[in-house]
Parts: sequence; structure tokens; C-alpha cells
Amino acid sequence: MKKETILITGGTGLVGSNLIPKLVDKGYDVRILSRSKKKSDKKNISYYTWNIKEQTIENGALVGVDYIIHLAGAGIADKKWTYERKKLIISSRVASLNLLYKEVEKITAKPKKIISASGIGYYGAVTKDKIFEESDASGTDFVADVCVKWEDGAKQFESLNISYFVPRIGVVLSDKGGALDRIKIPTKLNVGAPLGSGKQYMPWIHIDDLASVLMYAIENEQITGVYNAVGDEHVTNKVFSKKLAKVMGKAFFMPHVPAFMLKLVFGEMANIILEGSRVSNSQLKNEGFSFKYNTLEKALNNLFNKN
Ligand SMILES: NC(=O)c1ccc[n+]([C@@H]2O[C@H](COP(=O)([O-])OP(=O)(O)OC[C@H]3O[C@@H](n4cnc5c(N)ncnc54)[C@H](OP(=O)(O)O)[C@@H]3O)[C@@H](O)[C@H]2O)c1
Repeated sequence: MKKETILITGGTGLVGSNLIPKLVDKGYDVRILSRSKKKSDKKNISYYTWNIKEQTIENGALVGVDYIIHLAGAGIADKKWTYERKKLIISSRVASLNLLYKEVEKITAKPKKIISASGIGYYGAVTKDKIFEESDASGTDFVADVCVKWEDGAKQFESLNISYFVPRIGVVLSDKGGALDRIKIPTKLNVGAPLGSGKQYMPWIHIDDLASVLMYAIENEQITGVYNAVGDEHVTNKVFSKKLAKVMGKAFFMPHVPAFMLKLVFGEMANIILEGSRVSNSQLKNEGFSFKYNTLEKALNNLFNKN
């Protein structure tokens, strides 16, 4: 049987670096599409380059590819949202998908499926008791707008008879970087505290569960469309901060970090820290997927204490 090939854009990032060794272990050949040329020292991993602004992709990158996983994108919470940064956040996700589409259109043997990341920011930065489901309408803020455009970019592949799988991803919990790296700093110093009201929900997912979701979408042809990719337990920011302090064996500092301070430092971006609702993962579970880390404590214990 022919070995299947997976092209991963942004495969050098947090999610890709965790996923790729798992795919290689399963026998897939992996191509990483990156903005800069790198040399691989592994037999089943190769690198290709692209330039999204100039709409170019290295020759042959998409030939013989069975699946595309699109993870590339300028970090949404990495820098303050200036006009230019907002433009880059969108174009790195959407102009990149359009470039992939144009390239795939040219080749005869097309990939079977595109798996393209999105985020729970699709529902908007709002704090409600409602549990958002995939069929709910999008929010009206900047991140929601990014997600709508990003998802539309993935859906266009259907016109080439390529199915799509779009996971709306919650905060990815990893011990190798990402949000937890920043969240844990005050906790480490024994001053972990809720942010703003602390009542906002923080949908999360353990990075290994996310890798399993992405592999599940590859291995189960019938799974297509949009799926929330979040862990089982709904926790508020206050509960999250408390559990993190407990798992790290640190003190929990009760006074809340005032919302105005976060707004002063982060500007408009503070909304994604200060607001958040519950998000349902039932659709994924109804497809037979089961989460290994179904409680936050289990996920954090694995990351901090290797339990
Ligand atoms: N981590 C989370 O908590 C989380 C939550 C929800 C959704 N997501 C989404 O899931 C995807 C993967 O997340 P991640 O945490 O692995 O992201 P990441 O660590 O920030 O990596 C994304 C990759 O995108 C590429 N990239 C960065 N800036 C770019 C730009 N301006 N233009 C084109 N490519 C660029 C980089 O690859 P090269 O340098 O090799 O080009 C980078 O390694 C992202 O789209 C992210 O928005 C992540």
C-alpha cells in the first residue's frame, strides 16, 4: 500500500511540532510548508517553502499529497493589534489558503481532505452561561471575523471535491510553549490570580488530545465539517487559576487583576483574556472521539507532574 503523505503548513509551530512525530510513528510521510528553508534530518519529514505575499509555493510541494493540515498563521495573541498586525493575522491564514487552493486546482491527483485550524474565538469574546455549539452564529468582534474568513477559506476546497475538517480549537495546553507558558508566570511567583472578573470561561484542550483530533479527522473519512475541539470540563478563569496553582504546588493570590490594567497593557486584545463562554464538544464525541484528558486537573497534572 502507498504510504500517505501529509502536507502541514506552519508545522514548525506548537501544534505541528507535537503532531508531526505522532504522524511519523504511524507511518505517514510529512511535508512541512514553511516561510523559511530548513533541512530535515529525518527520513519521513521534508521541508518546502512558500511566500504568501508573493503567492508562490516551492515546486512539487503539493504533488502526491493526500491530506493538507493548515496550521500557519501569525500568532493572534503574540503582539498588540495594530492595523498592520490585524491585516497580517488575516492574510497569513486566508491568503495562504487561497494560495493552496490555486496550487491544488492545477494538479490532477488532488488531496482527499484539508484540515484547517480555526478557534473558539469564532463565537466572539462574550461571557455567557450559554454553551456554544457548532451551529451557533459567529460573534461580531475581530477574532470572530478572522475565524469566519479562515473557515470560508477552508470550505472553498469543496468546489474541488476535497472535503474539509475545521476544528474550532480552545486554548491549547502544552508544556512546550503557547498560552500556558505565559499564564503560569505569576503562579510560579506565588501571585497567580483571576484576570478581570474571573467569571469568563476558558475553553481548553490538552495538546495531545488536539493531535488525536487531527489524526481522527485523517483516519475517519466521514468526519467533515466544523467541530469544536475543546476538553470536557467548562472552567472559569478563576477556577483555571486555582487549579493551576494547586497542580504547581503554589499559592493562589485572591485579589483579581483589574480589567482596566489588562486593557491598558493589551488594548483591544484584552477582550480575549477578559471574556469567554462555554463551548460544547458533544459533536466530536458523538462521532466516537474520546478525550484522554477530560478534566483540567488531569491535563495540568500530566503537563506539570507527568502524571
Ligand atoms: N495554540 C493555541 O492555543 C491555539 C488555539 C486556537 C487556535 N490555534 C490556531 O492553530 C494554529 C496552530 O497553532 P500553533 O499554536 O501551533 O501556532 P504557532 O506556534 O504560532 O505556529 C504557527 C506557525 O505559523 C507560521 N507563521 C507564523 N507567522 C506567520 C505569518 N506571518 N505568515 C505565515 N505563516 C506564519 C510559522 O511557521 P513557519 O515559520 O515555519 O512559516 C509558525 O510556526 C494557528 O493557526 C493558531 O491560530 C491555536
